[in-house]
Order: sequence, then structure tokens, then C-alpha cells
Amino acid sequence: MSSKFSKIGFILAVAGSAVGLGNAWKFPTLVGQSGGSAFILLYIILTLGVGFVIFLAELSIGKISEKDPVNAYKKLALKHKKAWSFVGFTMIGSILIVSFYTLVIGWVVKYAYLSIIGQLPSDLKSSALDFNFLISHDFLSQFICFSLVFFIVFYTVSKGIKNGIERLNVWMMPSLFILLILMLIYAMTKDGFVMALKFLFVPDFHKINISNTLEALGLAFFSLSLGVGTIITYSASLPDRTNFITSTLNIIFINLLVGLLMGLVVFTFIFEFGYDPNQEGPGFVFVSLATLFQNLGLTGHIFGTAFFVSLVFAGITSAVSMIEPSAFYLINTFKMSRKKALFFIGTLVYILGVLCILSSLDSTQFKILGMSFFELLDSFSSKIIMPLGGILVAIFVGFVIKKETLKILFKPYMKGIFFEIWYLFVRFISPLAVVAVLITKLVGFV
Ligand code: PFF
Repeated sequence: MSSKFSKIGFILAVAGSAVGLGNAWKFPTLVGQSGGSAFILLYIILTLGVGFVIFLAELSIGKISEKDPVNAYKKLALKHKKAWSFVGFTMIGSILIVSFYTLVIGWVVKYAYLSIIGQLPSDLKSSALDFNFLISHDFLSQFICFSLVFFIVFYTVSKGIKNGIERLNVWMMPSLFILLILMLIYAMTKDGFVMALKFLFVPDFHKINISNTLEALGLAFFSLSLGVGTIITYSASLPDRTNFITSTLNIIFINLLVGLLMGLVVFTFIFEFGYDPNQEGPGFVFVSLATLFQNLGLTGHIFGTAFFVSLVFAGITSAVSMIEPSAFYLINTFKMSRKKALFFIGTLVYILGVLCILSSLDSTQFKILGMSFFELLDSFSSKIIMPLGGILVAIFVGFVIKKETLKILFKPYMKGIFFEIWYLFVRFISPLAVVAVLITKLVGFV
């Protein structure tokens, strides 16, 4: 990533990184498991109070240094350069994420294929059974789909992120959005819609507890791609004179909106088909929407295919952004060719990905700390590495980078009281909130 993005290219690339399976797959799953509206409320508060603040902090590190995460900390730290550069290695979190994330995109590919050949399940019960069969018995399908996505993702990154991604995003983001709106309009005509509205938006405060809060915090980080070097890396190519405050607000808004729309559609049909939202596991979105599309006949075929295909692309633009920080680092530091850097990263991702598939199969299942390897990578990255990375970003921007430098960067777009409020949040409120959640959860464990 040496040259700059175009202005719109930057926004699309960052939005492409943010909007992905976090919104479409993780969000509905966690909302179902963690108490509906209470979880959504926490998620929105944490997105604005922590996510937004840390997003701007990461952006500042990237823009001021114009380097990959490790070299950015090294360049900007006034003292203890070596120690700070280690913080940049939180980018390894994004490599852990991309390993299971590629597999989830693979599941979507499988559903796109089923939709094309008209073989989606027609009722919710068999849909749930089919999905469980896929992850617990069907190594071959998962392996083929995972490998396919793996090659597409690495091929795209090998072309250089701007060429590979800019064009893709221009088409894919709007089409996913339009499909979602059409699905929402259809959902509104169903009885399940009112139940979904209630489940998602009528606050139920006694469901707020520390586990749900940590889940919501993890999701806020995950869905904004924070704490693992991605935003630092993309912002290293932020074009000058871009109003990055408006861009960030737009990205956060789109990201929230896609998650909420997705939630409304998925839960409408969960209720419509008479299912218990607390029961489903990671397959919520597949189980609910596959059934819906199959019941809509030819329209469902066309819609289902278009929807799953755009979801695959939304996932790919996110996956690509997870690889770029480490690739950029290897290229900068060891003067490696892009191909060689991707070969090393790819080998690691491929091995971890195949282990994820094996860890959930009934025949080869293995658990670590009571979780499958897949769940472990997911939990460890979004509930530990990302929040920790976020705290360190905030401390670095709040206490190491000079306030004057930040003021100069922010001046054309955010000044006066707004800047001071952000600065207060970045120094104290946001990192302390994250620390409080992590510690309370940890003490709860003992
Ligand atoms: N934000 C992406 C999503 O919601 O699907 C996931 C993600 C992208 C996580 C990039 C981390 C990352 F570095």
C-alpha cells in the first residue's frame, strides 16, 4: 500500500472492510443468543462511545505515520520505540480472524450454490438440520468452499488492494443494500415483523449483564475492524484533504444500519416460521433466510442467489482488509515481494482454516478450554485481542502523540469543543470503559 486511495475509494474500502459477515452472520447470532434489544442497546452505545473514538484514533496513527501498524508505532513513539512497536503485532489478530472468516464465507458460497440449483431447505427445522450437518459432518463441501474463497481472497490482495478492491466495492455495497431494503419491505408484510421489532427494539433491561456487555463490545470492535491494525493500514493511504470525520460517521452509520436491517429481516422470518430465537447457534442467518428464499419460488431463487453472492463479496472485501496489515508489514520491513509475503501469510491462514473445519466435525472434533478451535479463535480475537488493541491505541494517541499534532490533523474537520470531547474520550473514557468491562468479566470468571 504505497500510493493513496482516491477519496471515494478510501471510504468504500473502509466501508467494505467494516460491512461484512460481522453484520450479516455474527450480529443476528449474538442478538439471538444475548437477549435481543438489551444487546442492541449496548452495541449501539459501545459503537458510538468506544468504537467511533478508537476508529478516529487508529485513523490518526495511520494518517500521521503513513506506515504499517508495527512501523507506525515505532515511527511515532518518542520513547520506548521497540516496546510500542510490539503493540503493532496485535495485527496478528486479523490473521486469526481471517482463518475462520474465510470458512464462514465458504458456507455462504455453499448456500449461493444451493440457491442456484434450487436445493435450499423448505422448512426451518430441516434448514437447521442441514446447516448442522454441514458444519458437523460435511468436510468435503466446507473444504472446497473454503479453498475457493481462500484463493479468491489471496488473488485479490496479490493484485494490490486498490486495484483489486476499489472496483469491486463500487458495485457490491450498493447491491447488497438494495437487496436488504427489498427484503425488509417484504418482511414488513409479515406478522413476524412486529415480533421482530419488539424483540430488537423494546428494551429489556434485566437482560443486561457483563457477559452480554463483553459480547457487544467485542462485536463493536469486530464490526468496525478495530484493534488489529486494519484501520491504521488503510489510513496510511488516506488521501489528503479528505473529511475523515464525515467519512467515519458515514461508515459507522452504514455499518449499524446494515446490521439492524439484517437483524430485522432474519428475525421476522425466525418468528414467522415459529422458531425460538434463543435456540439457534451460529447458523441463524443461513437457517432463516434459506427457508425464506426456498418458499418464494422463482423470485426466491433469483433473490437468494443475488443475496448470497453479494454477501460473499461483502465478506471478501472484509477478508482482504485483514490480510493487508501483515502483508504491508512484511513488505516494508523485510523488503519482500508482495507474492512472497502472501505466500507466508497464506500458508498460516490455510492451516488454521482447515483446523477450524476439523475442530467442528463430529469425527475429528477437538476442544480447547471447552471450545472448538473455531470458537476459540473467534472469542480470543474479538473478546481479548481487539479490545486490548483498542486500549493500547487509545493510550498511544491520548498520551504519546502530541496533542498539537492531532489538533493540526483534525483542525479542518473537527475543532473546538468537539475535538476536546473526543480527546477526553480517547484519553480516559473509552479505554477505561473497555478496561472496566474486561476486568469485571475476568473477576466474574474466578
Ligand atoms: N468488520 C468485518 C465484519 O464485520 O465482517 C470483520 C473484520 C474486518 C474484522 C477486518 C477485523 C478486521 F480487521
